[in-house]
Amino acid sequence: MSNTARASRKILVTSALPYANGAIHLGHLLEYIQTDIWVRFQKSRGNECYYVCADDAHGTAIMLRAEQEGITPEALIERVSRDHQTDFSRFGVAFDNYHSTHSPENRHFSELIYTRLRDKGHIATRDIEQMFDPVKGLFLADRFIKGTCPKCKVEDQYGDNCEACGATYTPAELIDPVSAISGAAPEVKSSTHYFFKLPDFADFLKTWIDDDHVQPQIRNKLMEWFESGFNEWDISRDAPYFGFEIPDAPGKYFYVWLDAPIGYLASFKNLCERQGMDFDAYWGPDSDAEVYHFIGKDIVYFHALFWPAMLHGADFRTPTAVNCHGFVTVNGAKMSKSRGTFIKAATYADHLNPEYLRYYFAAKLTSRVDDLDLNLEDFAARVNSDLVGKVVNIASRCAGFVKKLGDGRLSAHCAEPEMLAHFIAAGDRIAEDFEDREFGRAMRKVMELADEANTYIAEAEPWVLAKQPDREQEVLEICSVGINLFRQLMVYLAPVVPAMAEGARAFLGLDTLDWESRREVLVDHAIAKFKPLMTRVERDKIDAMITASKEDLVEEQKLKATPKNPLIEEPIADQINIDDFAKVDLRIARITQAEYVEKADKLLKLTLDLGGETRTVFAGIRSAYAPEALEGRLTVMVANLAPRKMRFGVSEGMVLAAGNAEGIYLLGPDAGAEPGQRVR
Ligand code: MSP
Ligand code: ZN
Repeated sequence: MSNTARASRKILVTSALPYANGAIHLGHLLEYIQTDIWVRFQKSRGNECYYVCADDAHGTAIMLRAEQEGITPEALIERVSRDHQTDFSRFGVAFDNYHSTHSPENRHFSELIYTRLRDKGHIATRDIEQMFDPVKGLFLADRFIKGTCPKCKVEDQYGDNCEACGATYTPAELIDPVSAISGAAPEVKSSTHYFFKLPDFADFLKTWIDDDHVQPQIRNKLMEWFESGFNEWDISRDAPYFGFEIPDAPGKYFYVWLDAPIGYLASFKNLCERQGMDFDAYWGPDSDAEVYHFIGKDIVYFHALFWPAMLHGADFRTPTAVNCHGFVTVNGAKMSKSRGTFIKAATYADHLNPEYLRYYFAAKLTSRVDDLDLNLEDFAARVNSDLVGKVVNIASRCAGFVKKLGDGRLSAHCAEPEMLAHFIAAGDRIAEDFEDREFGRAMRKVMELADEANTYIAEAEPWVLAKQPDREQEVLEICSVGINLFRQLMVYLAPVVPAMAEGARAFLGLDTLDWESRREVLVDHAIAKFKPLMTRVERDKIDAMITASKEDLVEEQKLKATPKNPLIEEPIADQINIDDFAKVDLRIARITQAEYVEKADKLLKLTLDLGGETRTVFAGIRSAYAPEALEGRLTVMVANLAPRKMRFGVSEGMVLAAGNAEGIYLLGPDAGAEPGQRVR
């Protein structure tokens, strides 16, 4: 490639829209960092490139999560969106726009695409039977149904497969199925669903997939799917559902995955409106812009089949390419909450420099779909040896001499023009690697150059020459070459470590580190005082991050276990009359004995004196009370609760306590009350 200016390309780039019901973690970050590096590279090259994203805000999971927290879905997605954006900005992920699928633009495009597809006959309706939770009044997706595995008989298996024996089945085959949301036995109920007729697009998709829009590995996978045949895609869900109602179908909502990718259009439209840009130049059928989606391997089906078919069927252009990456593992295993390797973005950033991670991911990324292991030993070693040991080292060895001998100005004469030309020329090959998403290869080339620069300095030994007063000019020239080489490297690293590059830019006294800017060699040029641009990864910070990640887990467990959570609480009757209340026989009881129950980590076994009569009650208060602290205390019990047979024995009543996951508080009467007295 020559240095003649090429026409600037118009490029739109997206990352998958993260679900608005959870925090960003290191797995997500692989994608956003990969995309951001590619976008920064395109911008550095002078292309007109936009990077948009949004929160994926609809669906049952978000509706239930909001309910669990006792807030509206709107409040939940608002809060999560802010958290997500904070996380992304800490990692230098610089979107041109971050929007939401719960937005007017997205409603507009969802309705538009749907009605266009419908009017062309690509929508069908059909009645289907589904599990229904009669208590919550909602249809249950498979993952919300649990029961006993029909094969190995292990209890509490979710959905359509057994974690214990690996069997797969339909949820209807579970023994004693219950709704994981309310605990009620599900009923089978029929309702009308809307379907996108994907088979209408089989020929179109075959051509599309063969036309280099996906990686070879993905193409092969998709071909397998083709062979097993296409089904129509169910795009509706019944109320209650947090989403957009289907225009001609009251009570029916677009399934979250219908409006999620449309969020790419919505976010970009929102940007266009704010900046006066032409939306159709990117998404219209005659667009000559490039459109790229970066996604993880778990969501290929949606992006490489449904999405191009929907766009094509509704007269939009289809993506130039869907770029798929693999999954992050930590220390060779799936991210694990209990091992502390399920690391949230915020937890990482509280302990370690986000640019370490950006570099590490870049160093290991290819254009393929393979998984990427974050090995924490290797992570520390790689960052310390490459960024700190090789790159920063060049500047720190040279800056002092430039300050001292050149009064902060680089020499007026370039002593090694050939070496510099070689570094500049390398930029063309490195650019090809970035363009091809071969970031690992690009980083290897940059580090080879860094090695060359360090060897040059080590062999020239400016610190030895500096002891001879008549060779000061030579020392200044050597170190000026060093600074120039460092500048080349920072141009190549800037898309990967933007904050470090910003520090380098300021140190070098330059306006920009854009790709083309590297061609101008710095002579007789003032540089600023050197400050360390990056410090070493410290092992104890990594350990602290792992410990903190284990603590994150504890917080989450608390939320799940909160009894005030209406999802796991027994339903409370609206109103009862005085006669209903009179049926409850509340009595003062004295706890005469309290014991742990083996294999029950929540329960204490209480022996209660009811004024002559003795009762045994199993109470879920073990987390709050040591048994010996309870003995002798008075409390209040429901004395006429029908005995319940539990795994550990029969419970003959219930003691009253207030509280939630933060604490449990056993009720007790004021002094003077006697065991057996009635409470009302
Ligand atoms: N909301 C959907 C995407 C809709 S796009 C129209 C979704 N959200 S997600 O939050 O679960 O994931 C967002 C992206 O992060 C996906 O591309 C997913 O593949 C990626 N990753 C989530 N966990 C990951 C790893 N452990 N490793 C690498 N990428 C991961 O899917
Ligand atoms: Zn089983």
